[in-house]
Amino acid sequence: MKEQLEAILAKAKEELSAVQSARELGDVRVKYLGKKGELTTIRKGLRDVAPEDRPAMGQLINDVCAQLETALAAQSEEIERKALEAKLAGETLDVTMPGKPLTIGKKHPLNVVLDEFKEIFLGLGFSIAEGPEVELDHYNFEALNIPKDHPARDTQDTFYISDNVVLRTQTSPMQVRTMEKKKPPIRIIAPGRVYRSDAVDATHSPLFHQIEGLVVDKDIRMSDLKGILELFAKKLYGEDTVVRFRPHHFPFTEPSAEMDIQCYRCHGAGCPLCKGEGWIEILGCGMVHPKVLEMSGIDSTEYSGYAFGIGLERMVMGRFKIDDIRLFYENDVRFLHQF
Ligand code: DAH
Repeated sequence: MKEQLEAILAKAKEELSAVQSARELGDVRVKYLGKKGELTTIRKGLRDVAPEDRPAMGQLINDVCAQLETALAAQSEEIERKALEAKLAGETLDVTMPGKPLTIGKKHPLNVVLDEFKEIFLGLGFSIAEGPEVELDHYNFEALNIPKDHPARDTQDTFYISDNVVLRTQTSPMQVRTMEKKKPPIRIIAPGRVYRSDAVDATHSPLFHQIEGLVVDKDIRMSDLKGILELFAKKLYGEDTVVRFRPHHFPFTEPSAEMDIQCYRCHGAGCPLCKGEGWIEILGCGMVHPKVLEMSGIDSTEYSGYAFGIGLERMVMGRFKIDDIRLFYENDVRFLHQF
């Protein structure tokens, strides 16, 4: 029996050395160690061996099985090593290849200027307020002294969600929302999206951005308003910027004004950029109407305030000499990369 076992082991080892794959390896294992494998069969034959020889024979069978297991494991490792070698040989690494270029994003030009704007006003002690774009008619119009039948509503083509809910047409409702929440002194700017049902062209978009400013305190005067806006214009457009205030009308301020800056291209002589005017309109502003203060719960005999509203797109177009508002929303990287 001993010779028979040795012969089986030698045969098994020989077969193993020719094995190329895990599947073939499995076949060899089954052939010798499986349920009906040659070694298993011999183990079953132990019961026919004389009892005194059984332990020694059993030991011998175990040894042979163990040797075969070791050989199987070694061959399995060998197969894996060869497979890895073949895989690595197939993969070539060329360390001289140039890397894939990574395009790094840039700040959107609207954000470039908005951030500068915030910086200026944060430095002047203002804080930033934010509010809803889907707004109650009450805040967008009524509480700003623009009642239902007021002609000023016609100048702001409004998207209505329902009878008393609109997409805000201006950031001015943030004046009311802020005054309702906070007691003076108030010093805020409120940037955000606004919506108007305008047809799209080079200077109009149904969605654009405004920045609202509001200051309410004791003894706030028109001169405070003029001072801060002139300072802001110089910081943003350069120290030599010339500004002027023109009387205007807004229902929520009294008196009201528009601020122009002298055209930075022609310095007031008149050119296509300023349409021959010499001046470019920048913003609307004024002293908060006492009715608006009262409607927001602020005593207009004790407090006064000023407010201003700026169109962000207009400001950025002037700053970077961009002549079509649509460029802001198309997100063409060739455009965005210029700022
Ligand atoms: N909300 C106005 C508009 O969209 C702009 C404006 C004008 C805002 C005067 C103000 C202001 O705060 O005082 O046309």
